[in-house]
This record gives sequence, C-alpha cells and structure tokens, in this order.
Amino acid sequence: MKIFLTGGAGYIGSVCTEQLLNEGHEVAIFDNLSEGHRRAIDPRAQFFEGDLAHRDQIETALASCRSDAVMHFAANALVGESMQNPSKYFRNNISNGLNLLDAMIAAGVRRIVFSSTCAIFGPPDRMPIDETASPRPISPYGESKLAFEKILRWYDEIYGVKFVCLRYFNASGATEKFGEDHRPETHLIPAVLKVALGEKPNLEIYGTDYETPDGTCIRDYIHIVDLARAHILALGATASGFYNLGTGGGSSVREVIAACRKITGRNIDTIEKPRRPGDPARLIASSEKIKSELGWQPQFQSLDAIIESAWKWHEKFPRGYAE
Ligand SMILES: NC(=O)c1ccc[n+]([C@@H]2O[C@H](COP(=O)([O-])OP(=O)(O)OC[C@H]3O[C@@H](n4cnc5c(N)ncnc54)[C@H](O)[C@@H]3O)[C@@H](O)[C@H]2O)c1
Repeated sequence: MKIFLTGGAGYIGSVCTEQLLNEGHEVAIFDNLSEGHRRAIDPRAQFFEGDLAHRDQIETALASCRSDAVMHFAANALVGESMQNPSKYFRNNISNGLNLLDAMIAAGVRRIVFSSTCAIFGPPDRMPIDETASPRPISPYGESKLAFEKILRWYDEIYGVKFVCLRYFNASGATEKFGEDHRPETHLIPAVLKVALGEKPNLEIYGTDYETPDGTCIRDYIHIVDLARAHILALGATASGFYNLGTGGGSSVREVIAACRKITGRNIDTIEKPRRPGDPARLIASSEKIKSELGWQPQFQSLDAIIESAWKWHEKFPRGYAE
C-alpha cells in the first residue's frame, strides 16, 4: 500500500515509517519539523516539508500522492504545555487535523489510522482500562485528541472515511536506527537514560507516596515496534474502531530506574519531589480488543527488552538527532 504519514520525522512516526518500508509498503511523509528531526526521516520515504496549518500545502501534497491510507501522527503532545497554552493544542491537534481530513476527502483517500492516547481517559475508575471506560480528559491535550476521535466518527458517517483510533499508553524503546529525542524530554525512560549518559545530573521522581507497592506511579510501557505492528494491522481493519494499546502490565518509576541501572551499569542519581497534579497512580491498558479483532500480539513483553533497545540507541546517538 502507499501510506501518507503525517509526523514521520517524529519519534513514533519515524519507526512506523521504517517498519512499513521494511514490509514493502511505500511511504510519503508530511512534517513541518517543528518537533521532529530531518535525520529521523527514513531516506527511503518521500518527504514533503509542510505544515498542516496551511491547507494548500497538505492538499497539494496529498493530491500528488495517490495514497491508499493516511497515518496521522503529527500533533503537539505535551500534557504540561497544554495546560499553559491550550490554544496551541486545540489549533494544531483539532483545526489543523481538519485540514488533513478535508484534503483526504478532496484526494479521495478514505482510510486513516489516528494516534490517540490514554490521556483521553483521565483518572480511571477501574484497571486495566478497556474501551468501555468513560473518557474524561483532564488536560487540553487529552481533550484535543478526544475531540478528533469524535470528528472522525462524523467523517465516517458523512463521507465514509474508515478510521482506526489507536490509544497508545507509554510508547518506548527504539530500533537500531530510530529512537526517542523529544525536546524537552518528558518521557521517563529517555529521561533516565540521559542521566546514565551524564547529560543530566539526576532524575526527579514526582511523588513517592502513591498507593502502589513502592509509592511511585505505575505506567504501561509498550515498545514502538509493537506499536508500529498495530498500525500495519489497522490498515487491514474491515470497520472503523477504537483500540487501547499497551501490554497489560505495569512498571513503577522506581522499577524503571532500577532496570536502567542494571542495563546501563551506570549510577543514576535521583531526587524525590512532590506529586505533580493530574498524575494518576496507575495507568494500565487492556488490549484484549485489538488482540481479538485485529490479531495484534506484543513481541516485547519485558521492561528490560524495551530499555535495552532504548539504551543501545542512546549509546549510539548520545546527542540524539543533533548534528
Ligand atoms: N510518545 C508517546 O508515548 C505517545 C503516547 C500517546 C499518544 N502519542 C501520540 O502519537 C503521536 C506521535 O507522538 P511522538 O511521540 O512521535 O511525537 P513527536 O513530537 O516526536 O512527533 C510529532 C511529529 O509531528 C510533527 N508535527 C507537529 N505538528 C505538525 C503540523 N502542524 N504539521 C506538520 N507536522 C507537524 C512534528 O514536527 C513531529 O515530527 C502524537 O500524535 C501523540 O499525541 C504519543
């Protein structure tokens, strides 16, 4: 298939591009490089440098591609920043996303896989979180993703655009060539590995008094190669749908740090800080629906395997994608 992929210079988009190309698909990337990196663009892919905010740019790129489907990764994705600057999130993640949907209609592309997030749920009533849980986002970021999910339902009903929304939990890990380089880095595993590399003096732990066995927050870490596989399976979905995507297991902040110490063999200093507002104690996905309906199975079940892949990439690229 030919896939038109927004946000392919970013972390998850770069790995999905690589996996799609490895499986013989063609990929055209559309990215404004606001958060992504030119060096994260797989050289085998076609690249359009453009901004979803400019309707003419996305229309021209899509019209020239004859794509079978769109994968939509481009977004702003920092929960904290969204609390400071909600307009940026509603504009980019909703309005600019609408430019993409309208360009799809104009170009006759009727299939999309959308990067949604567990942030649409807010504090969960029960664990693991399955697709019947009520979405109650507690940040403009989560709200913007939920709004786009709802818009997709209407584009399906009115224009017949088939969609699959994948609500990722904590994407992590790397392939040999592509890894995680967000600036600022707010994700736990790369943040810990930066301390191991000596780029940061210590890791701040936010909250050690949660109702969890070691007092720190528990999250569901899913390897990006498993995430990429879910996207490829979603291309074959026969109906529109929403799927939660994690491993169904959880690791605490202290467990992640301990695993990073073991794998890197380096000392990792930590500082304990108070809780941050809005951090639930546990977030764990139920991925039973995607397993039974699309046949997805995660290959990377252990935290160690995820961290080993990330560490290999960070050792090879200690400055990330910086020239
Ligand atoms: N990383 C995670 O753990 C995680 C978890 C849940 C959901 N997600 C979602 O997955 C997607 C990808 O996340 P990521 O971690 O790879 O983010 P990222 O910031 O690394 O990648 C996003 C890419 O989109 C591009 N982009 C942003 N706005 C654009 C615009 N207006 N026009 C063109 N390009 C634009 C950026 O330059 C960047 O390359 C996002 O939609 C995010 O909300 C990520």
